[in-house]
Amino acid sequence: MNLATTTQAWITRVEHKLDTVLPADTQHPQKLHQAMRYSVLGGGKRIRPLLVYASGVSLGAPIEALDAPAAAIELMHAFSLVHDDLPAMDDDELRRGRPTAHIAFDEATAILAADALQPLAFKVIATDPDLRVTAETRLRMIQLLADACGSLGMTGGQSIDLSSEGRKLSAAQLEHMYKLKTGCLLEASVLAGAITAGANDATVELLKRYIDNLGLAFQIRDDVLDVEGATEVIGKQQGADIERNKATWPALFGMAAAKQKSAELLEAALREIESLGAAADPLREIARYMVSRCM
Ligand code: IPE
Ligand code: IPE
Ligand code: MG
Ligand code: MG
Ligand code: MG
Repeated sequence: MNLATTTQAWITRVEHKLDTVLPADTQHPQKLHQAMRYSVLGGGKRIRPLLVYASGVSLGAPIEALDAPAAAIELMHAFSLVHDDLPAMDDDELRRGRPTAHIAFDEATAILAADALQPLAFKVIATDPDLRVTAETRLRMIQLLADACGSLGMTGGQSIDLSSEGRKLSAAQLEHMYKLKTGCLLEASVLAGAITAGANDATVELLKRYIDNLGLAFQIRDDVLDVEGATEVIGKQQGADIERNKATWPALFGMAAAKQKSAELLEAALREIESLGAAADPLREIARYMVSRCM
């Protein structure tokens, strides 16, 4: 697989779908719709959509059916980033190389834009005509996304993240926080692709173990880039975690340990999908990219 060509095609697909499902910024209330489009379009690696496509394509799903789950999960991710950047949370002013939503607009508009992105994600899965699966499968996907983002998923993880600032967590506590705040939505991405493809339970379980390892490695890489990345490359303010005294792998265990841990997790992730053979090469390529990325 030529990753660059394939991923570019997938990114084009999901961005087209996002553009289609987001209300026009000329539609009333304009400021809200502008903020929604600003927060979703124009930037981002689109890792979660790529995982939806890689998993779905590897298991034989038709590509057109993957656009809706890919877009829905990216909408949910964009919502989480807008809230994550708010003054009440990480208080960041730069995201994807541009002012964060509350800086570009205002705080109330950013909160409301994120509020509206979340239900739009569920609507896309519930109604998108290109997602040619049964109503039962749509329901399963909605539940998957709800669980991934609720108090026992991303939102819970964000709560733990905030209450962990300045605290010394054990490796197990840190892993639990990473799993919730970041891992759960990545897992939902891989599983949404698998469900669209009609994967059996054994494959779903194996993919869960793959993304469990990879999700942890992905967040460790994010934390490493906060330390050694350049603001212009990562598109976020370098050193923001250090400034806020965030509990991260580099802060608690050092950079060398963080890098070694993410390398081990990548190998573990790759071992989990060995039995899927060459068809799962997209999942391998994306895994390597997620752990070696510079932005
Ligand atoms: C940032 O996610 C938040 C984390 C969970 C680490 P990404 O690194 O996927 O951000 P974008 O979408 O590419 O901007
Ligand atoms: C964010 O983690 C996880 C989310 C659920 C958004 P971070 O706070 O480390 O993400 P960045 O570094 O701001 O992108
Ligand atoms: Mg955060
Ligand atoms: Mg943040
Ligand atoms: Mg971070």
